Amino acid sequence: MRSLAGTALLASAFAAAPAWAQQSPYAEYQRMATESAPIELFEIAGEELWKKQQGPKNVSLQACDLGQGPGVLKGAYTHLPRYFADADRVMDLEARLLHCMMTLQGRSREEATRRVFGNEDKASEMEVLSAYVAGQSHGMPMRPGTAHAKEKAAYDLGRKLYFHRVGPWDFSCASCHGEEGKRIRMSGLPVLFKPEYARPLMSSWPAYRVSTSKIVTLQWRMNDCYRQMRMPEPLFGSDTTVALIHYMTVTAEGVVYRGPGIKR
Ligand code: HEC
Repeated sequence: MRSLAGTALLASAFAAAPAWAQQSPYAEYQRMATESAPIELFEIAGEELWKKQQGPKNVSLQACDLGQGPGVLKGAYTHLPRYFADADRVMDLEARLLHCMMTLQGRSREEATRRVFGNEDKASEMEVLSAYVAGQSHGMPMRPGTAHAKEKAAYDLGRKLYFHRVGPWDFSCASCHGEEGKRIRMSGLPVLFKPEYARPLMSSWPAYRVSTSKIVTLQWRMNDCYRQMRMPEPLFGSDTTVALIHYMTVTAEGVVYRGPGIKR
């Protein structure tokens, strides 16, 4: 009886998954990995750092305004990337956290970005903070900013960059993420300008990456994909990376945020 109910449950889970996920073993892999991922530990570490007094001004990040008012975390992630008047630019979560480290804590850009990507032994401050903040939006629909002129401009820039061929191999994002059914070794290559691909994936960042046993953020993902394009490493939180993240997040708009998630 129990196994019958289990089968029905599994079948309905697969029925709800997008067509491409049903065709691959990926959905099953995700389910198994989710059960054993140490995501909560990163969130706890992030909460500690959020409350820790740091930098020349020796203050915590608790007054950081992520768009919903100083210190408001609930739902903040689902409205990012968005325009921030105090910085006069569109920011994603990581660019905004960096802004708060610099303005509130008085830290230099150089110091605050010295180790933004951690390793399997120790996650970075940015990674655990991202997991903590994003986790406060779990279960809420994603509505990145789209009304402000600079938000529209970021979206347009992101779309152009996605299809713009660059580098020694003349690759664009679409060279890898442009056609259905493409893969590199074990990795499916999602067509991220299509909502049916963007929605399940953009709603689960930051994520625990099982293949490397570490937590990763979207800024890391942009870095790693530019590396695969044989391009120089982009500046952390730059307008380029934010525009791409904004474009893909708007493509996923309305989806319920279910992260921090799991990646292969
Ligand atoms: C040379 C091929 C290649 C190019 C070019 C490339 N990527 Fe990727 N991308 C990958 C691979 C491989 C993965 C990892 C897939 C996996 O782990 O299953 C990936 C993953 C991603 C993901 C994560 C999807 C998820 O699981 O949530 C995003 C987002 C992404 N790429 C965006 C981009 C953007 C934006 C560009 C252009 C700046 C780009 N990629 C260029 C190969 C590429």
